[in-house]
Amino acid sequence: MIDARLLDRQFVLHPFSALASHEEAGALMMAREANGCWITDDAGNRYLDGMAGLWCVNVGYGRDEIADAFADQTRKLSYFHGFSSMATEPAAVLASRIIAKTPGDMSKVFFGASGSDANDTQAKLVWYYNNARGKPQKKKIIARTRGYHGVTVLSGGLTGLPGLHAGFDLPLPMIRHVSPPHNLWVRHQNEDDATFSKRLAAELEALILAEGPDTVGAFIAEPVMGAGGVILPPEGYFDKIQAVLKRHDVLLIADEVICGFGRLGTWFGSDRYNIKPDLMTIAKGITSGYAPLSGCVVSSDVWRTIVDEGGKKFGAFGHGYTYTAHPIMAAAALANLDILENEHLVDRAAKMGAILQDALKSAFADLPIVAEVRGTGLVAAVEFAVPGANGPSKFDKTLTVGARIVRKALEAGLIIRALPDGDSVSFSPPFVIDEGEIDFMAKTARKAADDIFEELRSEGALNTIAA
Ligand SMILES: Cc1ncc(COP(=O)(O)O)c(C=O)c1O
Repeated sequence: MIDARLLDRQFVLHPFSALASHEEAGALMMAREANGCWITDDAGNRYLDGMAGLWCVNVGYGRDEIADAFADQTRKLSYFHGFSSMATEPAAVLASRIIAKTPGDMSKVFFGASGSDANDTQAKLVWYYNNARGKPQKKKIIARTRGYHGVTVLSGGLTGLPGLHAGFDLPLPMIRHVSPPHNLWVRHQNEDDATFSKRLAAELEALILAEGPDTVGAFIAEPVMGAGGVILPPEGYFDKIQAVLKRHDVLLIADEVICGFGRLGTWFGSDRYNIKPDLMTIAKGITSGYAPLSGCVVSSDVWRTIVDEGGKKFGAFGHGYTYTAHPIMAAAALANLDILENEHLVDRAAKMGAILQDALKSAFADLPIVAEVRGTGLVAAVEFAVPGANGPSKFDKTLTVGARIVRKALEAGLIIRALPDGDSVSFSPPFVIDEGEIDFMAKTARKAADDIFEELRSEGALNTIAA
């Protein structure tokens, strides 16, 4: 019999894992069956996947419709490329359905295989666009600390998390960061949504002016920041940010990799926050994680410049992958879109999302180490911190509070995720989740947090909190 755990330890370089301890302890091997929100490991333990994999299995596991789409397309036409004006039907149909759904005046889709490569393409589109317009200096890209945009050489630097830069010589020199709209750690005590948004927009404008507007090409932002902490924009934030960008002729890239395709209870985060992107990045929910597929959605204005000016100056568009517009991936995405539409799953995400937010707020209302419960739609986080008279402060990193809570929850059959920089634990379940499963999630997470709270007390880590 194959010992997959042993093979994994011996031969796989794992993403985002502590490599030395993984070599020793090995993996949790997911196996056997997965259905709806539930997944089973190789020892037969069942887990409710409260993270939908990595924020992506939106229609839930085990969907026959997508399996059939893979099989049918594989038999019909397993592969053909899109270079030199070649095409396949599934990718063409998929692009038309994406353009019909995206807000604003979007025009074209460039397909990739991951959110990271799509954001690299976005940067190249920004550079190409400005070279085509005769503005070769306008190349810097501004992102936000705690933003997550991927890990490739360019997108890894856009990501504003130091843990992803360390040891990799990132970010590249044309990348800058501004503050995120983090309610807990960035908002001043006396700031309401309007003044907080105004300050953040002013910070962005000051940076653009300091760098020189003719050197800044684009600003990239997730509508709701995901992996950096599930951070929601305050009311009016994107209106003010977009006004700054317009003033200085800076493109807006909306990174919809998590928000897109329904997670906030709207098709896109841009719908929700009245964002009018010039470029939009999509991935994850486009196939519900069944297939690696991403896209850069390009607005009509940017498109026209690329075609009319870029074509004249640079000839044929010199960018694309072997797997750009892969027909099997596109067929899987079309089946996924059919499920989302036929089962009204975006509306369901809104409805179940409201239930999830309430359930988490009430489950965690009275635990002293809870600093904030936040979220919208089917994405949420609970942030743990040391309470204090002058507001909460972060736990000592070495206590690894978030990671310990996640491990406890796992032992009790719930998968959630610890996020970097602070002790937030995130929830992002499949849209097919029901009320009973939400109740299980909230109660199991609370019990895990209670257990770690007791552990911290007995370790003397919470001496400032009255017993
Ligand atoms: C908002 C956002 N952008 C980009 C990415 C990168 O996507 P990928 O992991 O597919 O490269 C992610 C991944 O979590 C993401 O959340």
